[in-house]
Amino acid sequence: MAENGLGRRELLGAGGVAACGLALTACGAGGAQAQPSLKGKVLAKAADVPVGGGKLIKDLKVVVTQPSEGVYKAFSASCTHKGCQVSTPKDNVIRCACHGSEFAADTGQATKGPATAPLASFQVKVEGDGIVVV
Ligand code: FES
Repeated sequence: MAENGLGRRELLGAGGVAACGLALTACGAGGAQAQPSLKGKVLAKAADVPVGGGKLIKDLKVVVTQPSEGVYKAFSASCTHKGCQVSTPKDNVIRCACHGSEFAADTGQATKGPATAPLASFQVKVEGDGIVVV
């Protein structure tokens, strides 16, 4: 019983009052839960993620995009077709060079096959000058 109460309080503390102000729609957006190992991790500097483009963080297998000014999104860089690593986003499209699949940089949805499933997404926020997984 006491343990349950504690656990609940910790959950609230971790997920509750995050600094989700600013113009960050990423904060309220749905999507896959972050892998535990990525939670709290600074993925990239916001300044390194161009509007309409993005940054591929190869060692974390994550791609960060800025589909519109001040809105940051993060997705798994593993293509949902056969698992190749996608390329650096351009023109709001995340492409996979292996077989030509394309994903929308704002939602991760597959817009061109052969992939049909969306890229797994991570919720992120801007903290200081970095993009952080929440
Ligand atoms: S693995 Fe990406 S399109 Fe086939």
